[in-house]
Amino acid sequence: MTDPIQTFSLAQRPDLLSAYVNLDIPWPAFVEPTRLLVEWGLHAHADHQLIMLDGDTPIARAASLPLHWDGDPQTLPRRGWDGVIEQSAIDTYNGAELNTLCALEAGIDTGHTGRGLSQTVFTALRDHAREAGFEHFIAPVRPSGKTQYPEMPIEDYVQRRRDDGQRADNWLRIHERIGGRIIALSPTSMTITAPLETWTAWTGEPFTTTGLTTIPGGIAPVFVNTDLDYAVYIEPNVWVRHQLTDAPTTEGSRS
Ligand SMILES: CC(C)(COP(=O)(O)OP(=O)(O)OC[C@H]1O[C@@H](n2cnc3c(N)ncnc32)[C@H](O)[C@@H]1OP(=O)(O)O)[C@@H](O)C(=O)NCCC(=O)NCCS
Repeated sequence: MTDPIQTFSLAQRPDLLSAYVNLDIPWPAFVEPTRLLVEWGLHAHADHQLIMLDGDTPIARAASLPLHWDGDPQTLPRRGWDGVIEQSAIDTYNGAELNTLCALEAGIDTGHTGRGLSQTVFTALRDHAREAGFEHFIAPVRPSGKTQYPEMPIEDYVQRRRDDGQRADNWLRIHERIGGRIIALSPTSMTITAPLETWTAWTGEPFTTTGLTTIPGGIAPVFVNTDLDYAVYIEPNVWVRHQLTDAPTTEGSRS
């Protein structure tokens, strides 16, 4: 029997761009689509954007961009997720050797979460990176279970394991299960700044006091400034590298 789930890139199926963009991925409202990714990356690198169909129904997507990286964890983009998009644009326009594919999103449509699809989607992206001949495949991973521990330092959070030895965080667990290894932390991976009215619309919170406060869906607190009428959210992510060759890896797991 053939597998009803099929994967296409947007280069193969440009007719699926609208379906790709309009999938209902369960991001918190404050993680809005990044214009540089949507208006530039999806088009400039359509071959690295994957969409999965169950029959004719779009159910998941995986976004990634190529960049140049020398393989040293010390030289990963300092601004993590935000930095990868900028660096991909710079490296693309400068004609740099795009030897690294960086995953930016694996998203499951809300109607299809909890089916075990996340591993399928990420594995498909990793296999794509391998088949496309990239030297490195990396991801600034959002540890999605950290919404339960927004005030815990990321250094402590990544150490957490279940009694069976697997990682406590559900998304880091999937990465490790398919061979991903943590190579660095990214304390400032995604920065979101907006007026308090916008934050209230996103979260339903009133934001009446200056200082750090937690928000629904946040994996870190936001800093609120009522005098200047803004709040800043700085999300930490976890750099994970997936081996694309059979060669032994030289870097160890950080935790
Ligand atoms: C994170 C996401 C990809 C997970 O996809 P999913 O299809 O719901 O997850 P799966 O069914 O594949 O389950 C993956 C693991 O998470 C666990 N899990 C699923 N939902 C969970 C929940 N609400 N709380 C805790 N763990 C959960 C599963 O038990 C599984 O772990 P296991 O295999 O050890 O049992 C999906 O929720 C999503 O698209 N989120 C928004 C985008 C995002 O955060 N992407 C990841 C960062 S780019």
